[in-house]
Amino acid sequence: MEPTFLIRTFGCQMNEHDSERIGGLLMADGMAPTEVADDARVIVLNTCAIRENADNKLYGNLGHLKPLKERRPDLRIVVAGCLAQKDQGLIQRKAPWVDVVVGTHALPQLLDLLRRSETDGPQMDVREYTEVFPSALPAARADAFRAWVSIAVGCDNACTFCIVPLVRGVQRSRPIGEILAEVQGLAARGVVEVTLLGQNVNTYGRDLSVPGSSRRPLFARLLREVNAIDAIRRIRFTSPHPHDFTPDVIDAMAECDDVCEHIHFPLQSGSDRILRAMQRSYRRERYLDWLGRIRAAIPDVAVSTDIIVGFPGETEEDFRETLDVVERAGFDSAYQFQYSPRPGTRAATMDGQVPKAVVQDRFDRLVTLQEAISLAKSRAQVGRTVEVLVEGDGRRRGSTQARTRTNRIVHLPEPIVPGTFVQARVTDAAAHHLTGEVVAEQVSVGV
Ligand code: 5AD
Ligand code: SF4
Repeated sequence: MEPTFLIRTFGCQMNEHDSERIGGLLMADGMAPTEVADDARVIVLNTCAIRENADNKLYGNLGHLKPLKERRPDLRIVVAGCLAQKDQGLIQRKAPWVDVVVGTHALPQLLDLLRRSETDGPQMDVREYTEVFPSALPAARADAFRAWVSIAVGCDNACTFCIVPLVRGVQRSRPIGEILAEVQGLAARGVVEVTLLGQNVNTYGRDLSVPGSSRRPLFARLLREVNAIDAIRRIRFTSPHPHDFTPDVIDAMAECDDVCEHIHFPLQSGSDRILRAMQRSYRRERYLDWLGRIRAAIPDVAVSTDIIVGFPGETEEDFRETLDVVERAGFDSAYQFQYSPRPGTRAATMDGQVPKAVVQDRFDRLVTLQEAISLAKSRAQVGRTVEVLVEGDGRRRGSTQARTRTNRIVHLPEPIVPGTFVQARVTDAAAHHLTGEVVAEQVSVGV
């Protein structure tokens, strides 16, 4: 029987994408995936560093793996991802039973590191620079009909709360030809939906020098070129930074039929004072103004956001300004986060850290407000007929989960093959999902 591997992924889509590549590399090396830790020859923890409890989770998980490693010394334990990049040598000092620490830029080296660990003991590669984009490696994809495509890694912003620039480095864009070749290849294999991934997608290309032209961001052009690939019917991207959201990107979104009517537009705070302290270069009115323009150009666009509660120095008045923007913006959905000081970031040493109880109270109030808004937005969908793409089984037996172009989950009562486009009428709504019935089914794809 072939040896098996198990990957546990923490964090964002960027990490999910890296995990597909880690799985792809191991499969190309003759291994098979498993869900059972006891059987696995290789266990990979793909870690996230963005909020505090990620550290505790990693060291907790490693503690659980220690007895397994003692019983089976041939088990290989790998720590990958943002915490690997951040903690580097600390990981193997705290947990000497870890065989390989592989940073965010070193994924292509994984098989080599594993091999060397067998003869030479624990290995670590936390190089600082990406040479090969994760999308250029073989993949073990969860779905046959949709795929993530990395367009850039790293981030040139310096938001004072954020550890990402420290662990993912400065922005490095992937050449446009390479991205298009990948999407064409995916389309040829039956993929109908792609999500373009970058820390700040609208500055895509700023670091690429195009001979004979100025160094303009190329994101709008990239959207248009992916849109021209016939078999791709849905294009998503994440995440844009409001500061860099230029009119050409709005125009491209509006013109390109395949670009979905959904935008993730991280607000972070509704207080100008706090936005300044976060080093976010837009202000509340400018943000709302952009939102108005996006909505005017793209009818029925859905908007989601990220908000941090309890940034250092946040007063009750600042927080009320956030509530006010949330009400005026009318987000379809929001991810709320309690501020977590990250060592090495500017905000971690700022005065005015907000007590936990106050942060919790504000967080609860924000969630309550947003839940009501999300529910009202969902209810407004009832009675509409929308195109959904089937993703897989629903929660109830025999049911199906699908997704609208606006990124809303729709539960359908009957089983349908994943990758099928369906016209569904929305019959009921909750804050985070809709219920629908099938009006018409289209051809299934990607299987
Ligand atoms: N504390 C809390 N939330 C954070 N985020 C990033 N850094 C922190 C932090 N230190 C949130 C931001 C970002 C999302 C991915 O995570 O809202 O947009
Ligand atoms: Fe993703 Fe950011 Fe976490 Fe890294 S630190 S895994 S980029 S959320």
